[in-house]
This record gives sequence, C-alpha cells and structure tokens, in this order.
Amino acid sequence: MSHNGEVTDVRDTGVAGPPQGSRLHPRVTSFRSRSSVLTPTQQGAWDRQWDRLGRNVADEPLDAEGWFGRSAPLIIEIGSGTGTATAAMAQREPDKDLLAVEVYRPGIAQLLGSLERENIPNVRTLRGDAVDVFQNMIGPASILGIRVFFPDPWPKSRHHKRRLLQPSAFALFADRLIDGGVIHVATDHAEYAEYVAESGDGEPLLSRLPVGTPNEVREAAVPNSPMRHDRPRTKFEMKAEEQGRAVTELLWRRNNR
Ligand SMILES: C[S@@+](CC[C@H](N)C(=O)[O-])C[C@H]1O[C@@H](n2cnc3c(N)ncnc32)[C@H](O)[C@@H]1O
Repeated sequence: MSHNGEVTDVRDTGVAGPPQGSRLHPRVTSFRSRSSVLTPTQQGAWDRQWDRLGRNVADEPLDAEGWFGRSAPLIIEIGSGTGTATAAMAQREPDKDLLAVEVYRPGIAQLLGSLERENIPNVRTLRGDAVDVFQNMIGPASILGIRVFFPDPWPKSRHHKRRLLQPSAFALFADRLIDGGVIHVATDHAEYAEYVAESGDGEPLLSRLPVGTPNEVREAAVPNSPMRHDRPRTKFEMKAEEQGRAVTELLWRRNNR
C-alpha cells in the first residue's frame, strides 16, 4: 500500500495462457491486501478444519476426486468472501462438489466454521489467486460451473486492469468448462456489469443465457443450465439494495466443442 492507502503493486494484466508474472514483475491482481488476523473463533475453525478442507494454491493439477473422495461435477466459486453463498448453495446441491477460491484468510476461516457447524461434506477451499488456480490447477474441459458473486468492481479507470472479469478471463474460463458448463456472475456495480457483459459476450466459445431479475433467477430454474442459481441474499447484497444499487445477474453457457 502507498502512503495514501492505495494499492501500489503493479502486475502484468494477462490472465489467459501461461503465467506471466515473476517475482520482480508480478501480475496485476484483482484483490487488495487485507488483514489476515483471525478472531479466536475463526482460529479454532482454521486449526480444526484447514488440513482437511483447505489448501494453498499450488502449481500442480488439482486431484478433485482424491480430495473430495468421490467423482462429482465440480463448481468453482471465485472470491467466496465469508462463504455465505458457498455453504448455502452446497447444501442445496449435494450432488455437486464446490471449490471456494479466496485470498482473504478470515473469510476462509468463516467458511470452515460453517462447514464444520453444519456438517457440509461437499465443499473444499483453496487459498490464493483464482487466476493461478485456473491457469495451473484446472485442466481444459474439466469443470461444470463457475460462480463469481460481487467481484470487486475497481471503478477508477486507472484500476480497470485489476478487474478479474475481463476478456482474457472469459477465454480462460471457457477453456476450462465442459460443454454446456455455465458461468454465473452477480454484481451491484452498473458500469462493471456492462463491461462484464461485453467481455463475456465477446468470447466466441460462450453463449449468453437469458435471465430475468435476480429474484427470478433464484426462484425459477434457468432453462438449459445444469446447476442451481438460487443464491442466498447476503449482507453485502442487502446493503447494495439499501443504497439503491440494482443487482445484475449474468449467465453464459459453454458452447459444444
Ligand atoms: C466484494 S467481495 C465479495 C465476496 C462474496 N462473493 C460476497 O458476495 O459476499 C470480493 C472477494 O473476492 C476476493 N477476490 C478478488 N480477487 C480474487 C482472486 N483473483 N482470487 C481469489 N479471490 C479473489 C476478495 O478477496 C474478496 O473477498
């Protein structure tokens, strides 16, 4: 962070293709540096559950079957925050495996606490940059779905390069999805929503799935989607609504190879 509190690390913007960062010129990231100090409750959940349910992002391919102990369609949630949506959705889709990717350690600890308390078996978490996960750990045509709920909008134009969802990310995601796999994005930032829509629509391997309002997305099954879209309303979303910011839901389906 600089003296005026702005994030100053400068990284290369590419997200598709081989890793482009190095220790001297690391890649631009879509997350800010935040405290990783845990409360005693979070620390307890971390100590009991991390070894079983969590891993740091690595360079090796993910052995999802070995880790989850079964073969099931895999959905990756990027930026799971405190894991409110992750835990709720995992309970509604016990036939799917959910991988929550997050850099924020207290958020991961909260999720571990929920998984423990509610005895949820089908979630694992990776701590680190989701771009690294998709580039290095996930093979082509291997996942059913990708969820990105309320990604940081990076509203200032000089920060747009930090946005997670940009054309190169959609190209990378499309490659990793199986045919018919789905990307589900929700955002409360109108200008970012437009940029995300343009970026996803510009990816020739994806087709937009028409959706209605957020409530309609949640209540009605989205035709042609192999996964659920009924997100719980989080505190984050309620605050956005109180402040008059509408939520946009965007869905794309991976075209057949
Ligand atoms: C605005 S929060 C939203 C959290 C949650 N999805 C929700 O709806 O409450 C965005 C989250 O994405 C995480 N994040 C941003 N870029 C990421 C990346 N490249 N890899 C993993 N997590 C990331 C941040 O740490 C942050 O917790």
